[in-house]
Amino acid sequence: MIESKIVDPYVESYIKTLVPTHTGLLGALEVYAEEHHVPIVQSEIAQYLKVMLKIKQPRAILEIGTAIGYSASLMALEMQSGIIETIELKEEMYQKASETFAELKSIAPRVEVIQHLGDAAEVLQTLNGKYDMIFIDAAKGHYKAFFDLCYPMLKDEGIIVSDNVLYKGMIATNEYLVRRKITIVKRMRKYLAFLTTHPELETTVLPMGDGLAISIKKGGHA
Ligand SMILES: C[S@@+](CC[C@H](N)C(=O)[O-])C[C@H]1O[C@@H](n2cnc3c(N)ncnc32)[C@H](O)[C@@H]1O
Repeated sequence: MIESKIVDPYVESYIKTLVPTHTGLLGALEVYAEEHHVPIVQSEIAQYLKVMLKIKQPRAILEIGTAIGYSASLMALEMQSGIIETIELKEEMYQKASETFAELKSIAPRVEVIQHLGDAAEVLQTLNGKYDMIFIDAAKGHYKAFFDLCYPMLKDEGIIVSDNVLYKGMIATNEYLVRRKITIVKRMRKYLAFLTTHPELETTVLPMGDGLAISIKKGGHA
């Protein structure tokens, strides 16, 4: 296991032992991701998303960063019914995710998954949905740009979840900084400062996985 430098490794390992294991589609995708080195949400983040979806019960989700369709499938399986739109830049990931969603259809028939292939910075400009939840899990240096494009599509009291915001411990301290990542790190620090001071949002940053920011649009409530 790669040390995250965010949580003490022994705590992280322990928490991972408490996360229920998946069989079926999700279990198979976890194996595929491991074998093909595809970055998918860490197990404790997956579990967090499940709990959050049970509480929030979103009907419309927008995801930036499909990869092989793991997190989208996990979320679809938590929804009674609804729609997930998901954006992926890489053709081969998009194709593998198509296979995933074909299989998902038989186990989550009331959730419609709409895939978009392309750079989220472009695709987002073509969307006009309204979403209860937006999951940002793609190019870390572009979160602010993604946010600016998708925020107008977030419903009042909707939630934006941004993954990897503590990026291997590099965001919180220069001690772990890898020099070639400096632009991403600077941008992520700016993004977190922006999110946490945004007048319409209430945000919490959780030191779990690679760091997770949860922001809720207050929608008129102070
Ligand atoms: C961490 S993976 C997503 C994992 C997925 N959410 C999951 O947990 O199953 C990030 C994905 O974002 C995609 N990506 C990177 N930059 C992107 C962009 N500008 N627009 C759309 N997708 C992008 C990558 O190709 C990669 O597949």
